[in-house]
Amino acid sequence: MAKKISVGTLISGGGTNLQAIIDACLNNSIDANILFTGSDSPGVKGLERAQKANIDTFVVDYSQIIQSCKKGINDTDLPKDFNLEEIQSKQQLVAGDASKEQIAFFLKSRAIAERKFLDIILAYNVDLLVLAGFMRVLTPYFIDRINTDPGRYKIMNIHPALLPSFPGTDGYGDTFAYGCKVGGCTVHFIDYGEDTGPIIGQKAFEIEDDDTLDDIKRKGLKKEWKLYPHCIQKFADSF
Ligand code: GRF
Repeated sequence: MAKKISVGTLISGGGTNLQAIIDACLNNSIDANILFTGSDSPGVKGLERAQKANIDTFVVDYSQIIQSCKKGINDTDLPKDFNLEEIQSKQQLVAGDASKEQIAFFLKSRAIAERKFLDIILAYNVDLLVLAGFMRVLTPYFIDRINTDPGRYKIMNIHPALLPSFPGTDGYGDTFAYGCKVGGCTVHFIDYGEDTGPIIGQKAFEIEDDDTLDDIKRKGLKKEWKLYPHCIQKFADSF
């Protein structure tokens, strides 16, 4: 067996993808160990799954941080190495029709939350950070502090659609609403855009005329649980 890579995971919810990766690590079907699971929301089922597998867990409560930022952000609240101009020039997350103030608020409030994650995550020194149903976008502030080797992507995400179709938060919903006859999921690296990074793997499934949105989600998740461990192994093989 090859040397095992160290993996960190971030989640927001139920964590069925996390479970598939935990199982793949435990039964040695991939050369990886999960060191931690972080969540942007307290009390989610995925945290329980991690704890059951003796994986360290932590929460950075994004909703609470964003609410408190809405009362005002002082310069002293921002990470010491935060440079708004630099992050603004790199970011591709907020559309051009947003006001300067809206963009600044978005980048500042997310960087405050991201710094809290970084303070914990960087102490682990993982080879790969896996977003397993993590429903927050990551700004260049965070990405640049994980991707420290130029040209080497270290953050992976799973998206519930066949990218580049249907980026955004509701891939299966958008696939269903469009009336597609094929759906799928994509594992890709994170870059500065939303769901735009290099594709690592994809799996497709057929959609029957009478399939409901729930049918599509069920078929899609089944594919995700196989695809994600496979893509992590692909990364481990190239490491
Ligand atoms: C998955 O469909 C994933 O593609 C999307 O969010 C869902 C998370 O499911 N990003 P789970 O938390 O892994 O069960």
